[in-house]
Amino acid sequence: MLIAVDGPAAAGKGTLTRKLAEHFDLARLDTGLIYRAVSLKALELGDPSDEKIAVAAAEGLSFSDPDLAGLRDEAAGNAASKVAAIPAVRDILLIFQRNFAANPPNGKKGAVLDGRDIGTVVCPEAPYKLFIDASAEVRADRRYKELQERGDEAIRSAILRDIIDRDERDRSRTVAPLEPAKDAKVLDTSDLDADAVFAAALNFISLQD
Ligand code: DC
Repeated sequence: MLIAVDGPAAAGKGTLTRKLAEHFDLARLDTGLIYRAVSLKALELGDPSDEKIAVAAAEGLSFSDPDLAGLRDEAAGNAASKVAAIPAVRDILLIFQRNFAANPPNGKKGAVLDGRDIGTVVCPEAPYKLFIDASAEVRADRRYKELQERGDEAIRSAILRDIIDRDERDRSRTVAPLEPAKDAKVLDTSDLDADAVFAAALNFISLQD
């Protein structure tokens, strides 16, 4: 089983894919974390928007430890969106992602991947494709609450602006832009809670069989 889940920042892809992985006993790959790890590594080496530096960071990445401190920060997400626009970086990371989908680790019989281009580029053959969307306002509210609950300082207007900037960058890049695959089920989750999104995803998957 292979499930591709795409969508913009803070749409709820992580929550959904965790539930899907548990329900179907799948290996889960949050591909945004890989781009985040590359951006942090590139920052250590110099300017992350310099192609040579970003490529060196992608080539030197060890996938065994994706839980680098700071990976979940908003700043890491924004920096990730910048290195993600560099085609040579995407080419390097594509191999790892496809390999994960074809050979899920830990003896799992299938995989669920979430990101921006899973249904369109990484796994265009996936039988189940979902595109999770929500208005920028709703996504900013969700991210704001999440940060507050974690005890992190957050300014809602800054989060909204970052989300809008990141959407624009991810949608307008020339390689693998954020867009639903033609055969993806688009779910607008603006008015849905996590359980309702999960139920809608399960319903879609059952209709494909
Ligand atoms: O899902 P996320 O917010 O952790 O992703 C961080 C950035 O990484 C996102 O803004 C764009 C990039 N990304 C990508 O280009 N392709 C993916 N499959 C996943 C993430």
